[in-house]
Amino acid sequence: MGTARVVFDRWSGRYAQRMANVRSSAVRDLFAAATRPDMISFAGGMPEIRRVPIENVVAAVTSALRESGPVALQYGSSEGRAEIRQVVVGLMAEIGVRVKADDLVITAGAQQALDLLAKIFIDPGDVIITEGPTYLGALQAFSAYQPRIICIPMDDEGMKTDLLAEELERLGPRGAKFIYTIPNFQNPAGVTLSPARRRHLLDLAREYDIPVIEDDPYGRLRFEGGHALPLRALDDDVIYLGTFSKIFAPGLRLGWITAPKPILAKFILAKQAADLCGSAYAQTTAERYFADTPWRKVLQDLTRAYAERRDTMIASLEEYFPSEARWTMPAGGFFVWVEMPSFLDLKSVLAEAVERGVTYVPGDAFFPDGRGRNCMRLGFCYAEPEKIREGIQRLAEVLEDRLELYRAFAAAGALPAASVTEGRG
Ligand SMILES: Cc1ncc(COP(=O)(O)O)c(C=O)c1O
Repeated sequence: MGTARVVFDRWSGRYAQRMANVRSSAVRDLFAAATRPDMISFAGGMPEIRRVPIENVVAAVTSALRESGPVALQYGSSEGRAEIRQVVVGLMAEIGVRVKADDLVITAGAQQALDLLAKIFIDPGDVIITEGPTYLGALQAFSAYQPRIICIPMDDEGMKTDLLAEELERLGPRGAKFIYTIPNFQNPAGVTLSPARRRHLLDLAREYDIPVIEDDPYGRLRFEGGHALPLRALDDDVIYLGTFSKIFAPGLRLGWITAPKPILAKFILAKQAADLCGSAYAQTTAERYFADTPWRKVLQDLTRAYAERRDTMIASLEEYFPSEARWTMPAGGFFVWVEMPSFLDLKSVLAEAVERGVTYVPGDAFFPDGRGRNCMRLGFCYAEPEKIREGIQRLAEVLEDRLELYRAFAAAGALPAASVTEGRG
């Protein structure tokens, strides 16, 4: 057994202030433990990549190199290759958004777009608005630019836009630099912004003249119900982020942004400073894959697999989880959000869960201010259904152990009765 070693950082006085609030990703920290062979992980948001036909990818790589080698291995334009942008034009049209290739920039995943948008919009102390909870990668990207982050609560219809209206009123004209939202199958809450609230959000953004960033990695992974029009389909001023990570493969690090022209011009400058241009090799590979693979069928298979896992997770939660637990019912995507009574600290429960061979991400990772400790994100995307059942059973045992203690205290009048702050089930 290795012993834990405390590493003294003798450069600690040298780092820029902007790194002070960038917290390490709880998910990444868990990766070491999660590699134990018996571990059942609900922590990550990794796609079920085994269902992507590897022979088609090999063919795409081979053809990219054989037929376009000198281009694929060369520097490219900062906007990305015209051919891959044309693929994106088609993808966007299918979800109701009309864009031209000139309105698009290819990025190194949606994550790079988040970082570069933060870079071009945020000065230290600026207010930005997100859902609460929100994607922790966005919190990491934004935090480096030292904003004050205001989180708007959600319910089953997504962000509560009435509360957004109150917040904007409080902040006054041009009080926030932007509103960041994940309208479809939100990470981490799993909820979807209703059509009425989409309209309300856009009306508010117009009234206060605030840019809206729509981050939509999961929109095509819908299990049931009708397709909701993206915000960008309703308003050309919306900044829309897409990604190939969930419809093809995250390993290629390919995403895209469309935004009003002046914003896109600033964005391209920021991208040039960051990496000159994206990988032409990855772009040509994706072009070939989308031209030669029945990718819609692959996506359908993937979505069906995720839906089955969602069903298994929800059924297992109903069967095994303590009666005090509440959870969301995602109609797509990767995640279920579970809320426990407010006195339960799921961060401190995690070590015990890991010991019993199951991981999750404690809810506070998804808030900028330590809230959410009684919540957790469960990813159903990666584990096989039978493992999901077993993992939820293990987790339920850990939670029951903790709750038994609290119930005993509560019965003795030493604690308030279980109270769940948001009634979701
Ligand atoms: C909401 C959200 N935005 C952005 C990303 C980053 O995705 P990409 O792989 O395109 O960088 C993720 C990844 O999980 C995500 O969940």
